Amino acid sequence: EADLYTLYKGVYVPNGVHTPESLKYYEEFTFRPDDVVIVTYPKSGTTWMQEILPLILSGGDPASVETLPNWDRVPWLEETRASSLKLEERPSPRLFTTHFHYNMMPPSFFQVKPKVVYVMRNPKDVFTSSFHYYNITSFLVKPGSQSEFLQKFLTGKVIFGSWFDHVKGWLNAKEELQIMYISYEEMIKQDLNDSVSRIAQFLGKSLEPDVLKKIADKCLFKNMKNNPMSNYSVVPQEFMDQTKSQFLRKGVAGDWRNLLTPEEAQHFDAVFKEKMKDVNYKFNWD
Ligand code: PPS
Repeated sequence: EADLYTLYKGVYVPNGVHTPESLKYYEEFTFRPDDVVIVTYPKSGTTWMQEILPLILSGGDPASVETLPNWDRVPWLEETRASSLKLEERPSPRLFTTHFHYNMMPPSFFQVKPKVVYVMRNPKDVFTSSFHYYNITSFLVKPGSQSEFLQKFLTGKVIFGSWFDHVKGWLNAKEELQIMYISYEEMIKQDLNDSVSRIAQFLGKSLEPDVLKKIADKCLFKNMKNNPMSNYSVVPQEFMDQTKSQFLRKGVAGDWRNLLTPEEAQHFDAVFKEKMKDVNYKFNWD
């Protein structure tokens, strides 16, 4: 961990794309009231939202999702690239991404209160997706055996720390903040049109049914998998070896059933129950 990660505000961040300078840049970042921030624990649906939100704001015009890689289109504010993208000059409404916990957000966030779309996913599937991802990515510590990685995941010794703390922190956010909570599962299980329509409403965009449909279609897993600006295929193989497992890997709910043993799943559930016992929120996954 020592070589690849930095401990920042109590959580590991990968050094490769997070430097003291980039983290400071974010600490001093100034939001605008009409900014929109996608907030996720890694592997919860970030890339999906980085496709949906630009399409909603452009009224279905696919130009940005077809020409800009997702990390330039909806940049992570904590990453090294952010400071070189001249975000101050971007026209409103600007779109950003962050994996930060609630209590890591910079002062300007709490003063300006930009809109947040918080995406959460069944942590057993987040674990499963992460296990495959950590195996193909050179800037992350190799996961080790499945049981080792499970232990690390459940105790937050992975990038961006504990899933439980992340979700709890954001669910307990101050009420005056404008946060839309949405789950990966509802986007999978219901017609994607419904989710796109809810998000558009939250962003104050009214779109015709045919435009909503066009956006939802463009954001289907099979279509995003073929979008080189969203499938990470432009990342060199030495950083991400997609010959082993792809970034857009399966795109389903419940794949944990193909990985976790019954004992592991039971242990996971027990930890979930304990850590989330004071959370008053109805999660919609099984
Ligand atoms: S990251 O590294 O945090 O940005 O990863 P993130 O994008 O949050 O999560 C990657 C998982 O999301 C899946 N994905 C999708 N599923 C369904 N439909 C669409 N359109 C879609 N786009 C991305 C992706 O396949 C990863 O999940 P797994 O389970 O590994 O397939």
